[in-house]
Amino acid sequence: LYRKVFVFRKDPSDAYVLLRAKLDRPLQNFTLCLRSYTDLTRHVCASWESTTGIAEFWFNGKPWPRKGLQRGYTVGAEAAILLGQEQDTFGGGFDVYNSFSGELADVYLWDAGLSPDKMRAAYQSLSLPPA
Ligand SMILES: *[C@@H]1O[C@H](CO)[C@@H](O)[C@H](O)[C@H]1NC(C)=O
Repeated sequence: LYRKVFVFRKDPSDAYVLLRAKLDRPLQNFTLCLRSYTDLTRHVCASWESTTGIAEFWFNGKPWPRKGLQRGYTVGAEAAILLGQEQDTFGGGFDVYNSFSGELADVYLWDAGLSPDKMRAAYQSLSLPPA
């Protein structure tokens, strides 16, 4: 969704965006990046690999501590990305006081874990690297 922007106007808010990715095959590895314009200016990338279960979070081109998550799991063909709300249950459990307000842009999904170099490139340049 390069050069597309979602504006979350209200704070607190019950607004959300659900992106349904059409996958050619189930995902064992992925990286999701987006730019966020809010009182906290940063953007963010998250990646995850099934074989290790290692999840990485990158903010402003810098990695945060890695976490283990759902090792061996595969994201099925009905993948969905939820923006704007925190989920306390799958696809729901929203709390308006845990909502996002501001702008989210350039939402991008790769079917691979990106290397640190590509994570930094995603932060530095507006043209995002291909998978
Ligand atoms: C997922 O990543 C692992 C580790 O880098 C790799 O061995 C595996 O082949 C990848 N799987 C797919 C489907 O790309």
